Amino acid sequence: MSVKSVLCRFDEVPDGGAVSAHVDSATGGFELIVMRQGDTVVAYHNECPHAGRRLDYAPGQFLVRDGRIVCAVHGATFEVASGCCVGGPARSGLVSLPVEVVDGEVRLR
Ligand code: FES
Repeated sequence: MSVKSVLCRFDEVPDGGAVSAHVDSATGGFELIVMRQGDTVVAYHNECPHAGRRLDYAPGQFLVRDGRIVCAVHGATFEVASGCCVGGPARSGLVSLPVEVVDGEVRLR
């Protein structure tokens, strides 16, 4: 499988916020949530473990506050840093992908 490694530019991700990124692949690709806290960037599949829905309330618009992201569908709450579920109906956490910042770009490792 070949995937695009550049997700977005680092400065496109608001500190304490999130953006969406689409990753192309031979099987149609997938959607990611890219979140930032200071110099730290994390990425998760944009698929809630509760009912498999996207977490954003509109494309690329996420409910992120105080280090947590809330799924817009039924309110499952996850820690930004770990993806662990800390509230709501989900029984497991978000699925992460390893990323790094190189030359101002957020890339899949
Ligand atoms: S689909 Fe996310 S909380 Fe239900």
